[in-house]
Order: sequence, then structure tokens, then C-alpha cells
Amino acid sequence: MKTRAPSDYDPRFSRSLELFRRAERVIPGGIYGTKSPGFVIPGSFPYYFERGEGCRLYDVDGNEFIDYLCGYGSMILGYGYRPVVAAGEARLRAGDLLTGPQPVMVELAEMLVDRIDAMEWAVFAKNGTDATTLAVSIARVATDKPIVMIASHAYHGAANWCSSNEYPILRDRDEVVEFHYNDIGMVRDLFSRHAGRIAAVVVTPYHHPAFAPSVMPAPGWYDALHELCATEHALLIMDDIRANFRLNRAGSHVEFGARPDLICMGKSIANGSPLGVLLGTGAMKSAAAGFFITGTFWTASAPMTMAVRTLEEMDRVDVIAHTRRVGELLCAGLTAAASESGFSITMSGPPAIPFMTFDDDPDLTLNQAFCALMARSGVYLHPHHNWFLSYAHRESDIETTVNRARAGFKALAAML
Ligand SMILES: Cc1ncc(COP(=O)(O)O)c(C=O)c1O
Repeated sequence: MKTRAPSDYDPRFSRSLELFRRAERVIPGGIYGTKSPGFVIPGSFPYYFERGEGCRLYDVDGNEFIDYLCGYGSMILGYGYRPVVAAGEARLRAGDLLTGPQPVMVELAEMLVDRIDAMEWAVFAKNGTDATTLAVSIARVATDKPIVMIASHAYHGAANWCSSNEYPILRDRDEVVEFHYNDIGMVRDLFSRHAGRIAAVVVTPYHHPAFAPSVMPAPGWYDALHELCATEHALLIMDDIRANFRLNRAGSHVEFGARPDLICMGKSIANGSPLGVLLGTGAMKSAAAGFFITGTFWTASAPMTMAVRTLEEMDRVDVIAHTRRVGELLCAGLTAAASESGFSITMSGPPAIPFMTFDDDPDLTLNQAFCALMARSGVYLHPHHNWFLSYAHRESDIETTVNRARAGFKALAAML
């Protein structure tokens, strides 16, 4: 089957394109491009946005989109969510980054320790990458072993130990070995091949690789991992940065019966304000206390204040049930709309964090063309990366999306 994305630069994205051309002169690549669908399918997506409201995005050309990327998962309540923004604004006026931390850091740590299952302490940074990198360092120090295991195609951040940059000069990856998610036999083999040298296994609660359907943990996976880690004196690090509060108030590990020693969070915790968090069990506390943990901006209190308000709102309204429900509606609607035009699709991952793939579309060409058509009709999807639902997505947004998708699938069928 041969198809193509709608060609040429759509004039409705002309200001975006103009900015992109300017940016290319002063910003390598113009945007942090490899993540952006506009980089893969030039001309069919906006590059630059002006503002967001609820689940809507407005680009620099004034186009409106129902957004299913939610700031790559960082927005969970809605763009511009008043109670969170108001709390952040007040904190900015009083002082965001002062010379030392503010009481809100203690308050937020207490809130997290109260709600995240089995965790007894928290430290804060700016990004998910900070949290996973700290976790790996603390695991190495705590176990006095060098190697960490990660699943192939799992994303844990942009640091050299885990990034997709594979330049030989970046040798940090030498002490990282890869297994296939859900393949406990392979994990066991790696433990024996690197006997006595494995500090930790790093996993996401379920596997959400880019360019491929998401995979849920197999029955028994976490029990077996736990047993292996315990026998081998290795730690289990849960990278909960992407799922982060969309699955379970007490942490996604509870959803799947995992027993991590360290948990990394970030993304949605402050509804879009930059905050990374590393949490740990009591047994990990002294290793963390002895570790040099610092960053000039890591004690900034506006994002922490916004995190407190986000968590409070999530106690007040059932965001998890809501995102699941609208996610289920979206998945069912898209599947039906696809089949009306003769397409068979698979919706993978939890409904609140779904990913759509066409069956029999190994290089995602159909997905790219479909997402490009959807962007032109005002729905922002990503052909290679999972999507996110938020508390701001209403049933009417899903209905509008499915109606546009129906037209999109029809147009796609006509292009084949
Ligand atoms: C599972 C996972 N871990 C870590 C990260 C890195 O987080 P950040 O981009 O905030 O550094 C991401 C970001 O997409 C992620 O999805």
C-alpha cells in the first residue's frame, strides 16, 4: 500500500513556516525537531503555538486545535487551569527562586510521601531526565554496582546514559544493557551474564515506545522482576514520568503490582510547570542523603506551588476516571470511524494515554498521512508518539474529533 502525506506547505501554517525559517538561522534545527510531527511531515503541522486554553491549542497563524499531546503529557487538568495558574502567579510575585527553598517544598514532599505507595522521601529537580539520572546514580552508589538495565526502545530522558544519541564518543551507554520489555528470561540471562554488576532495572509501568504500539505488562512480569532484583541485590527503578497520575493516584506501580525502590515522576505533576521528582523507599534514604543533589533552579517554588494545587485539584475532581472515560470514547469512536472507510486500526495503551496504529502499516506511513489530515482539520495528534487525554477534554471534544476523523479516514482512503 503506497500513500503520502498531504504535500506542500499548507498556507494556513505560513507564519509558523516563516518563524521556522528564521529559527533555522539561530537555533540548530529550528525547533527541537525530532519530537515534532512538523519535522517529519513538513507543511502539515504548525511549529509554533501562541496559547492554550482547556484542551485547545492556538498556533501562531491563529489556527485552533483540539490537542491530544497535552504538552507531551505535562498538561493534565487543562491549559491555563485557573486555580493552578493563580497559585503560580501569586508565588511568582512573592518570589519564585529565592536563595534557599521555601516551605512549599516540604509541603509538597509530605503530600507526595502521603499519597505515593511505599515511598518515604522525595527530592525535586526540573525535568524527568534529572529524576531518572539521579535515580540511576543513587542506585549505583547504593549498590556499589555499575550497570543499569533498560528496555529496548524505552525513553528515559535526554542524558547520555539513556538518550537515543548513539555517537560512539558518548560512552556513558557502555554501562547500560538492554532487555525486551516483558521478557523475563532475557532479564535473567543478563543478570547471569553480568553477575554481581547490575545496580538496577529501570522500567516504565507499561511499555510505551515511540513508533510502535504500547505494551501492557504481562501477567507475572512484576513479581518475577521483583524476585530477580531481590536475589541479585539490584534495585527496581520505576520511571512513571509519562503515565504520572493518569492511571493511579498512588503511582502507576500500584496499578500493576510493582514494588519499586525508586520512582521518577515529572511531566503532569505541576500541570505543565517544570518539575521533576525522585521518590524512594526508606531503605534508599541514606544513599540519597549522601548524594550531591543540586541544581540552581531545583528549589524554584512556583512550580512546586503549582504541583500542590494540581494534586489538590486531583483530589477534588476524579481526573483519572474522567481521562479514562473520554479516552475510551475516543478509542471506540476512532475504531468505528476507521472501519467505515475500510481501515483496521489498533488502539494500544491505557485509554487515558492511547496510541493509534493502522494494522499493516509497519513504517507508519498511513499514520503520518492521517495525522497530517487531522492537523489540517484542527485536531493535533502525533503519528509516532502516544497521545494523552486530560480533564479538559469533554465528550463534545471527542465527538468533534471522531467526526473529523471520519472525514480524515475517508480522505485517506481516497488517497490510496
Ligand atoms: C517515560 C519518560 N521518562 C523520562 C522522560 C524525560 O522527561 P523530560 O523530558 O522531562 O526530561 C520522558 C519524557 O518524555 C518520558 O516519557
